[in-house]
Amino acid sequence: MVLYFSGTGNSRRVAECLGEKLNEDVFPLVRFIETDSVCVLKEHEALGIVFPVYSWGPPIVVLDALTRLQTCHVPDFIYFVCTCGDDVGKTADILKNAIAHKGWECEAGFSVMMPNTYVCLPGFDVDSERLANLKLCNMKERIAFIAKCITERKAVFDCHEGMFPHVKSYLIRPLFNRFLISPKRFRVTNNCISCGKCVQVCPLHNIRLDGYPVWGKHCTMCLACYHHCPEHAVEYGLWSKGKGQFALKEERG
Ligand SMILES: Cc1cc2nc3c(=O)[nH]c(=O)nc-3n(C[C@H](O)[C@H](O)[C@H](O)COP(=O)(O)O)c2cc1C
Ligand code: SF4
Ligand code: SF4
Repeated sequence: MVLYFSGTGNSRRVAECLGEKLNEDVFPLVRFIETDSVCVLKEHEALGIVFPVYSWGPPIVVLDALTRLQTCHVPDFIYFVCTCGDDVGKTADILKNAIAHKGWECEAGFSVMMPNTYVCLPGFDVDSERLANLKLCNMKERIAFIAKCITERKAVFDCHEGMFPHVKSYLIRPLFNRFLISPKRFRVTNNCISCGKCVQVCPLHNIRLDGYPVWGKHCTMCLACYHHCPEHAVEYGLWSKGKGQFALKEERG
């Protein structure tokens, strides 16, 4: 079984491609938490967790969901696949520790480079169309490799840590989580047509429409609301001004 968390569709696409290759079911991770239901695994079925990298680590919402996830038995083989724009720092260690805290063992982990979605700080923007397409093309070969490793139950960690991974994951990430994950800076411009798309795409149901969108406190900064807005009317403070949008459409329901 493949469980995923995704804001703008990259991790969902990776999870779906992997599910297809492995011939396994694919579900949103938060569904089991929201419904407080038990994830039923077949005998000897592997459990894969797919998620985006946020500031060189797993999103807090994913770590929380993993803590609360209930399965019918301890999964035989647990692995993760993280998607990133560039590099993932010590994401593997952070995720492995979270799984170990549960008394389980994460036996394999992989990163997959996908189109970048972070636009909320100066110097960060979406990729050019050419680079985004190149990453999407390369993704297929990467998923084939990952699926082969999973089928063979290979205990392998193959993640692109990048430069200064400790500094990024253990110094910058806590500051990012403390000061830059906040829905307070979201606002809409006069271009908003009150279509409700942002409400619909928020994976955490954190937005309501009161004439215009109103952001609640339960935000993980996935930026689905920003990237999916058909009028490009969502801004994050002044830092997202003039930046691009990127979101993958769902391929199946
Ligand atoms: C809040 C935030 C932080 C991010 N931090 C990183 C990062 O540290 N390293 C990186 O390579 N990409 C980073 N990205 C890019 C995403 O990890 C990447 O685009 C991912 O594939 C998005 O997945 P999704 O479409 O499933 O949400 C970040 C994106 C967001 C929204
Ligand atoms: S998606 Fe954009 S246009 Fe539609 S309600 Fe949200 S902010 Fe307004
Ligand atoms: S409010 Fe926007 S950024 Fe926050 S979780 Fe929802 S869609 Fe993601």
